[in-house]
Amino acid sequence: MSTHTITKVHGRRVWDSRGRPTVEVEITLDDGSEGRAIAPAGASTGSGEATDRRDGGTRLGGMDVSGVVASIDGEIADLLRGMDADDQTAVDRGLIDLDGQADKSRLGGNALVATSMAVAHAAAGPEPLWRHLGGTEQLGMPLPEIQIFGGGAHASRRVDLQDFMVVPIGAPDYSTALEWTAEVYLAAGRLLSGRGDLQGVADEGGYWPAFTGNEQAVEMLVRSIEGAGLIPGTHMGISLDVAASEFYRDGLYYLASEDRSLDADGLCEMLLDWVDLYPIVMIEDPLVEHDRDGFIAFTKAVGDRIQIVGDDYLVTNSARVEAAALDGACNAVLVKPNQAGTLTEAREALLAAQASGFGAIVSARSGESEDTTIVDLAVGWGAKQLKVGSITRGERTAKWNEGLRIAEKLPNGGALPDPANFPWGRTS
Ligand code: PGA
Ligand code: ZN
Repeated sequence: MSTHTITKVHGRRVWDSRGRPTVEVEITLDDGSEGRAIAPAGASTGSGEATDRRDGGTRLGGMDVSGVVASIDGEIADLLRGMDADDQTAVDRGLIDLDGQADKSRLGGNALVATSMAVAHAAAGPEPLWRHLGGTEQLGMPLPEIQIFGGGAHASRRVDLQDFMVVPIGAPDYSTALEWTAEVYLAAGRLLSGRGDLQGVADEGGYWPAFTGNEQAVEMLVRSIEGAGLIPGTHMGISLDVAASEFYRDGLYYLASEDRSLDADGLCEMLLDWVDLYPIVMIEDPLVEHDRDGFIAFTKAVGDRIQIVGDDYLVTNSARVEAAALDGACNAVLVKPNQAGTLTEAREALLAAQASGFGAIVSARSGESEDTTIVDLAVGWGAKQLKVGSITRGERTAKWNEGLRIAEKLPNGGALPDPANFPWGRTS
């Protein structure tokens, strides 16, 4: 008999970084091993992603998850008790079948992802999950992508684009990558407070300044990199999550901070101009999530120089990644486990990316917790990139700091992937 049989499943309501309720699942095995995980939550969600279940009604703005916790303790526990935690695929298929909906809305993507991740932790036993998943593979740290300014749906749309990030493309190792990022964050703070532009921080901890428009945020990012004593484009690249679906209405993109509307060609032209002007190495969701032709054209224009990342466009779905690779739309995918709903499906999206020559960035959500599972997944699955928000706020530093602990245990001491893995390393 297996010694990794699930004996207990327990759900719990806990709180996320936006002060909203979310679910935590605890799994116990017959050998006494325990695993625990907390579901994150997005704000700028793609329409094709797994749907979280919430109670509705008036309590906590309708966002309570007491009903979700009840079904974890009820039908999910009934399904999993007696199953082998080592067979993650069978566990996840069981959860998918039990839910029975394409969008996982009956039990909720939140219930499923927390359960799936908790089972993985329990199966790892005393081993850290990253090592359990990675087995005998040569593991390495992923290249971080870190937010400096937040906007869009995460900052009351003060600027329209959602994430203004840095990528330490010249850093030799993970620890140095974070040090450089902290220097840029501090330099940005000095710059903004000197101008009286500091308003607060956005959902993922990036500054939320009073910029006059989107391009000013990009310019300030370049100045912050320089202010940190680093060379833009050599040490630090810039990454933008446009999250364009969030400001698209009736065929037009409305830039509220600049009070002007652009059609798809206009938005692409603006972004392509920026790629020429600034050291941009990644652009995520440059167009609305259903604009296949736009994604193809955009990728054709700059896909050889930068990463074009599909988040809302690909929603961590292996079939969509395969279709995009055939189309020539995007050349990288954001891998968010809760977009897929289970670890097995998220892994399939990552494997599809690796098989298609796509980049893959394992990513947190804007609503997070102290849970660090995605760092284990990035390392254990051999993903080359990681995005978890800014370098401030506990739910973000929990993840970056867990990466530092893992890096110390790796034979290569936390060396980052060879730049030749990325478009910027191949062209320069
Ligand atoms: P979300 O933001 O979690 O609100 O979707 C993150 C992202 O868009 O990458
Ligand atoms: Zn995104």
